[in-house]
Amino acid sequence: MFTPSEIELFNQKKYENEYSLEQLSINPNLDRNNYFHKLVQIKLGLIQKYGLGKNVLDVGCGAGDYLLQSKNVVSSAVGIDYTQKAITEALRRRNQHEAMHLDFRVENARQMSFSEATFDLAYAFSSLYYMPKVQEVVAQMVRVLRPKGVAIFEMGNTYSLNTIVCNAYPELPQSCHISTGRMAEMIRKASLRVLSWRAFQILPMWGEKPAWLRIFLGSRCKKILERNSGSIMLDEKICSVPVMRAFAFRHIIICQKV
Ligand SMILES: C[S@@+](CC[C@H](N)C(=O)[O-])C[C@H]1O[C@@H](n2cnc3c(N)ncnc32)[C@H](O)[C@@H]1O
Repeated sequence: MFTPSEIELFNQKKYENEYSLEQLSINPNLDRNNYFHKLVQIKLGLIQKYGLGKNVLDVGCGAGDYLLQSKNVVSSAVGIDYTQKAITEALRRRNQHEAMHLDFRVENARQMSFSEATFDLAYAFSSLYYMPKVQEVVAQMVRVLRPKGVAIFEMGNTYSLNTIVCNAYPELPQSCHISTGRMAEMIRKASLRVLSWRAFQILPMWGEKPAWLRIFLGSRCKKILERNSGSIMLDEKICSVPVMRAFAFRHIIICQKV
């Protein structure tokens, strides 16, 4: 049994020493109908909606893709990540794009150096899953938000099939998934108002292990769930049913600081 501090250090070393820059970036080769491509589009849409002309913070930014792809949306932004490798690459791309209104810094999300009420929008995409002290990160994100600012948290549900698949891959950074009840409790404790709570990934949508789950891991299930049903993916529609929502992995929670 590892302590939260040991898990944090373990994950940081994994990202710094074992992950390639491609693994810290959005895959640029995904087909437009691919499930993960559609998820990226949903998140970019959220930046467009809540970050237009605003000062924005990206927590666990990796190589900076979300901000770089939103460079014409935001008025200014900072991306933080605790790996030097990711930040060096994000700065290189920033210079290449001549997007000098974007900054990237090596910082731990739990101990951000920004003053209170600095940002209009703060989001954490696919990064809170790996943070063992997520409550502290939520508190930091709220601290640096202006009143009426928007926070977007993407959190992983421990009561999901995806958690079982993640646990079958010990070579990956250690997952820090939590229950949906704990997500709700954190939001409540931070005195945030929920604007919207979207859930995704009723099936893992990736992986080949464990063998007993294989029937749900094939590409056929993914192909069905990534289809559109009206304006959203079938997966999201299924995950919006309360009983299914409790077992959906990916929860994107959009909140406002009151
Ligand atoms: C899966 S990557 C996601 C990168 C990017 N947000 C994206 O969606 O493409 C997770 C990122 O979170 C960063 N990260 C994890 N824990 C962190 C922490 N406590 N402080 C800062 N960055 C962290 C990792 O270094 C990694 O770059």
